[in-house]
Amino acid sequence: MKKECVLVSGGAGYIGSHTAVELIEAGYDVVIADNLSNSDFGAVEGVRKITGVEVPFVEVDCCDREALKTKLFEQYEFQSVIHFAAFKAVGESVQKPLEYYRNNLTSLMNILDLMREFGRQNIVFSSSCTVYGEPDKQPVTELTPRKPATSPYGNTKTMCEDILRDTVRATPALKGIALRYFNPIGAHPTALIGELPRGVPQNLVPFVTQTAAGIRECLSVFGNDYPTPDGSNIRDYIDVVDLARAHVVAITRMIEGKNKQPYEVFNVGTGNGVSVLELVRRFEEANGLKLNYKIADRREGDIIAIWADPTLANEELGWQAKRNLDDTLRSAWAWEKHVRGIE
Ligand code: UD1
Repeated sequence: MKKECVLVSGGAGYIGSHTAVELIEAGYDVVIADNLSNSDFGAVEGVRKITGVEVPFVEVDCCDREALKTKLFEQYEFQSVIHFAAFKAVGESVQKPLEYYRNNLTSLMNILDLMREFGRQNIVFSSSCTVYGEPDKQPVTELTPRKPATSPYGNTKTMCEDILRDTVRATPALKGIALRYFNPIGAHPTALIGELPRGVPQNLVPFVTQTAAGIRECLSVFGNDYPTPDGSNIRDYIDVVDLARAHVVAITRMIEGKNKQPYEVFNVGTGNGVSVLELVRRFEEANGLKLNYKIADRREGDIIAIWADPTLANEELGWQAKRNLDDTLRSAWAWEKHVRGIE
């Protein structure tokens, strides 16, 4: 039987590359598309090495509709798309709102437009818990009201969810699932792919691992006077391989026609809230090292706390986060050591 093919846009990125691996291991053919604007071809090589499959790679910008059409839609017979390609730096989006709105909205709209033109059927979209803003109640379910996000980046996620929902509603042949990720961390157990931030990392775990590697002098914990048990922010840290598996389950649900609605939304988190200080302590214990850190001022735009109620994904998708936080933090450190050539 011919294998189903899935287009992974942004497949050279952090979550995209892990998802490509899980798709291939689940028996799918994969095409990776990426403009390499914030990713590295090495990730594609990592995917090929882990899976032993010469995954096709197309260098293309999803904002270029004509190139998408001629290089991808006319060349490959995928019925399904997992759309990761987007800008994702919260702080940068405040400085460059137009770039963020243009890039993130245009790329999704081009993909949807071409899916309609070519009769392609299923799409999973990378959304974020940022659509809940600062929630009034924890944990958040999919019915928790969305609130204005604290950044243009966050707003693009809300807008893209609406673009997807309305396009699915207007296109009988199209089905879509938005996955609202909590905080993805960690790396593949082989340490052949992982998160590779350019410049100074903005996210917590890459900053932690770079500090442990001696590249950064000291981690700043942004605030210890929040109304939380230890005063630092609380997040739901989800292992990137667990998150990647959620995409495989979501796309399979639509391919097999098991979705209950043409457009569905799922939280992808563990259900556990972990504070920044707790994460630092767990990182030290799991890896048997000491991290240089200090308490610093709050970071503008940070929300106090958010964690997921993942019941819907557990029950409807049959998906659950499996890897425990210590293993995930060990994988993050193993990846950093691999990148830096540390024994
Ligand atoms: C943000 C976005 C999320 C996005 C993600 C990826 C919001 C609410 N969330 O997550 O949607 O997908 O970025 O870019 O907009 N911290 C430190 N020191 C550091 C770095 C971080 O203390 O050097 C703390 C932060 O204050 C925060 C926690 O660590 O409490 C996690 O931060 P980060 O990894 O940047 O993710 P979010 O801001 O939660």
